[in-house]
Amino acid sequence: MEKSAFPFQVMAKLKLWMIWLLGFILITLSFYTTQRLSSSVSISANHLPAAANPTISIFAAPSPFIGVVGDRQTLAIRSWLSLSPNITVFLFSQDPFLSSFAASTFGSRVSVESNLDFTFLGTPFFHSMVARSQSSKSDVSVLIDPNTILLPNFISALNHAHSKLDHDWLMFSSSRAVSNYPFRLDQDWKHWIGENGKKIRIQEFYLQLQGFLDLNWKCSNCEDRMVLAWNNCDLPLHNGVLPPFLYGKGLHNRWIINEARLSEYRFVFDATMAISNFYLDHEPEETTWENRVNTHLSGLYGSLYFREANHSNMVKLLNYNSRYVFVDPTKETDYTSMRLFERTRYSQERLSIPFTVETLLPILADENKTIVLAIAGYSYKDLLMSWTCRLRRLMITNFLVYALDDEIYEFSVLQGLPVFRDSLAPTNISFNGCHFGTECFQKVTKVKSRIVLGILKLGYNVLLSDVDVYWFKNPLPYLSSFPPAFLVAQSDEYKKTGAINLPRRLNSGFYFAHCDISTVGALEKVVKHAASSNLSEQPSFYDTLCGEEGCNRIGGDRCLEPDSNLTVHFLDRDLFPNGAYEGLWEEEDVRHVCVEKKGCYVLHNNWINGRRKKLERQLRSGLWDYDMSSRMCLRSWQTAKVASYF
Ligand SMILES: *[C@@H]1O[C@H](CO)[C@@H](O)[C@H](O)[C@H]1NC(C)=O
Ligand SMILES: *[C@@H]1O[C@H](CO)[C@@H](O)[C@H](O)[C@H]1NC(C)=O
Ligand SMILES: *[C@@H]1O[C@H](CO)[C@@H](O)[C@H](O)[C@H]1NC(C)=O
Ligand SMILES: *[C@@H]1O[C@H](CO)[C@@H](O)[C@H](O)[C@H]1NC(C)=O
Ligand SMILES: *[C@@H]1O[C@H](CO)[C@@H](O)[C@H](O)[C@H]1NC(C)=O
Ligand SMILES: *[C@@H]1O[C@H](CO)[C@@H](O)[C@H](O)[C@H]1NC(C)=O
Repeated sequence: MEKSAFPFQVMAKLKLWMIWLLGFILITLSFYTTQRLSSSVSISANHLPAAANPTISIFAAPSPFIGVVGDRQTLAIRSWLSLSPNITVFLFSQDPFLSSFAASTFGSRVSVESNLDFTFLGTPFFHSMVARSQSSKSDVSVLIDPNTILLPNFISALNHAHSKLDHDWLMFSSSRAVSNYPFRLDQDWKHWIGENGKKIRIQEFYLQLQGFLDLNWKCSNCEDRMVLAWNNCDLPLHNGVLPPFLYGKGLHNRWIINEARLSEYRFVFDATMAISNFYLDHEPEETTWENRVNTHLSGLYGSLYFREANHSNMVKLLNYNSRYVFVDPTKETDYTSMRLFERTRYSQERLSIPFTVETLLPILADENKTIVLAIAGYSYKDLLMSWTCRLRRLMITNFLVYALDDEIYEFSVLQGLPVFRDSLAPTNISFNGCHFGTECFQKVTKVKSRIVLGILKLGYNVLLSDVDVYWFKNPLPYLSSFPPAFLVAQSDEYKKTGAINLPRRLNSGFYFAHCDISTVGALEKVVKHAASSNLSEQPSFYDTLCGEEGCNRIGGDRCLEPDSNLTVHFLDRDLFPNGAYEGLWEEEDVRHVCVEKKGCYVLHNNWINGRRKKLERQLRSGLWDYDMSSRMCLRSWQTAKVASYF
């Protein structure tokens, strides 16, 4: 472990005494100032809080524990754990190795949670983190920046709020950036070492540190590194839905505080002056497209535009000689007029991610250079989300979305999906009536083979899956077992017996195309045929590969396209049933019948007309993984409590 991360600055004793003295004067001064300010309110001014001892869960989303950043996070987490044995820590991360690292470094009070929403780049979603933190069984939940060090006055402030407020509350505290921090933890991370190299007793350390902090902090981007804490109860933090902010990319803390204040569900207060939370200064992160996503969201949603928000008129928790005082400087702020003013300031800016299909493929593809491709327009956005949530639940992350229109493109960006579009996308397809048999449907299906062919030519295998295909289990290992020059596709045959490769029975909504010369050659023919045909793509597929009237059929489940020497294999109808087969969708327990009795990998929600009916069928059967109101994947921890908020 690199100890150099925590610079050890030697200071003269005299200097330290001066710091103490100055710190004391400052605290005293600020106390008198606030006494003058607080003519209107003093919610409670009690002696040291009674032993309230709430159970506390601390939630954080750390970066990988590597190098200096790893050391800083380790120091921060140790500082949290040392506050009380009643603190448990949950780290949000997709890193498969973090659990064992956390267990060996911090012990059993720290656990890793990967069961929430992340973007395809691994950035966690703030709304998902908040919802998970709210579902905690502990008395108090804390959401904290992973670099922020906490000191014992954090616990006293929480205890005070917990035991003295007769209202539900939300507390926040801006973290201060500190450079040249003169203390470090000893080898076994148990004791703080002062500037003279000796262990310091905790009270003394605390006094010295407080003095140091009062003189050395600055507030560059305090808002991004805030501590939020609230008591857990049935009451939400604010009214309405939290937009899908990207965690750590700015504005979300400010947004939620403003909304909480305006909603007036909870007593919201600023404890920055009463809590010494700080982080060791490091270089500011550069602004990226992810920050722009958050800017966009904060302008789009919420009643108070972030830039106008201003904490100076908020209730503050102050501490003087272990006495806590709530101070409310302005009671009469007129939020209504601010709201109108600020809403008009939002500018419509088109969002995009700085990725093309060429740059996305190497990031996403799995070990076999395989990509799962979904093609969707805006009217299928909920189906698309449920489908991606399902894949993520199956731990499948090598999927990619082709956007048929600008609306679904932007929606996908905001939902953290890897998405791309091209200039050849058909126009005017985003209306509800784009179902089987319509002209719109024809246009859309013809896009599919063109996009698949493009990806094959870039050197990747493609599993194309319509978003109305429900995946029970991962079909990729099975589909990958077919050799090159095989195209493996779902059959649209609805009869229980007989051949499954009869004319026009090839379903072009679920197929696996291997990246090889035969497949590329055959798909080129399909694309060419589809371009000159006035039918949808499905017949082009069949007629090209299996021949008109099925003249290229071999046996009951194959065709051989002679020019390219591509074999088309129709997938077993029990393992990959279409929506008409055996009336599976009408079963009481679709999942049970399909998975236990037939061994299904997937079930296609086709053979039904209209997006609405499709959606209803899937919702009714419980083959649904997305909460449309909270814009989050459904999770086991999402109790009725969370669901009932929206
Ligand atoms: C921990 O929690 C238990 C039960 O709430 C309480 O009795 C105990 O005093 C707490 N300990 C500390 C150090 O807060
Ligand atoms: C914040 O609000 C206070 C009082 O409403 C005002 O005096 C101050 O100038 C504001 N600060 C900023 C940065 O807007
Ligand atoms: C788009 O499609 C709808 C429904 O078919 C139609 O009413 C409308 O005129 C079309 N718009 C354009 C620009 O083609
Ligand atoms: C990669 O392909 C092999 C067969 O070629 C298969 O056994 C394996 O499961 C595939 N991997 C994935 C992640 O699908
Ligand atoms: C489609 O094309 C065929 C000839 O290729 C023609 O006979 C038929 O009328 C066309 N159908 C439509 C709906 O345009
Ligand atoms: C066609 O493919 C089969 C295997 O799928 C192979 O045995 C045969 O040699 C190939 N024929 C030609 C002409 O490439």
